Amino acid sequence: MKRLDGKIALVTGAGAGIGLATANLFAEEGAFVYVTDVNGETADQAVVALNAKGLSARSMTVDVSRGQDVTHFVRTVEEDQGKLDVVVNNAGVNVREEFRHMSNADWESLREVNLDGVVRIARDTFPLMQAAKSASLINIASILGHQPMRQVAAYAASKGAVASLTRALAVEYASFGIRVNTVSPGFIETELTKRMRRNPHVNKALMERTPMRRFGTPEEVAKVILFLASDDATYVSGADLIVDGGTTAGV
Ligand SMILES: NC(=O)c1ccc[n+]([C@@H]2O[C@H](COP(=O)([O-])OP(=O)(O)OC[C@H]3O[C@@H](n4cnc5c(N)ncnc54)[C@H](O)[C@@H]3O)[C@@H](O)[C@H]2O)c1
Repeated sequence: MKRLDGKIALVTGAGAGIGLATANLFAEEGAFVYVTDVNGETADQAVVALNAKGLSARSMTVDVSRGQDVTHFVRTVEEDQGKLDVVVNNAGVNVREEFRHMSNADWESLREVNLDGVVRIARDTFPLMQAAKSASLINIASILGHQPMRQVAAYAASKGAVASLTRALAVEYASFGIRVNTVSPGFIETELTKRMRRNPHVNKALMERTPMRRFGTPEEVAKVILFLASDDATYVSGADLIVDGGTTAGV
């Protein structure tokens, strides 16, 4: 018996990085996975690779900042499955710049994905999660929502809001059998951190802040997401699981 046998799961932003590792692990654990991304090509590739291994997945192009994409996705799942047991709000972007120079357009485009996208998915998939009787909604925030650094004010604000929304939804959704939790990764080896990792000064500074002295892997985050998605976490709701190699443990 696998840990997600019979479960239907959605992962947003699943064409790369943490989302891709999560979609792969979910499928290996027996779930039928909707692999969605604004970049439909990467989502398609992920699903081709999963199907080639005999695993169940379907790709869809979903830009979480576009209401019509999310509505279309929800209708499709309603018709095909009638429920969603696991929803992972993973899609996210970053803009690195000094806050005082940030344009309205930069703020809005970040907020539309990192916060409005999470709000939309958490609200519009509610009937499908309710239909599952026992569902798990997992929002990916960040340690920067707790302990920011320079040039990430907008990102930090969006992730702090996601953590706060998560607690509010844990309270509201509990009576419908839906657990709601946050995973807050530290510095993980993905496209999102590529520029920081390649800059020797930034890289050194980040590693000095990280007691384990290395970046995490997407797979290490995916395993924690799997825990929250699975029946091992049936009494866990409103939690924020930090996956950061100890970065936020000390000063
Ligand atoms: N990498 C890290 O160090 C780190 C740390 C903390 C939190 N996070 C969070 O983890 C999540 C995944 O990040 P990652 O590092 O894997 O990033 P990534 O850039 O490797 O992957 C993000 C994926 O999201 C997709 N995406 C972007 N905008 C989208 C939209 N509007 N709709 C749907 N999909 C969209 C991208 O196409 C990409 O496939 C994000 O929410 C990010 O903020 C990452």
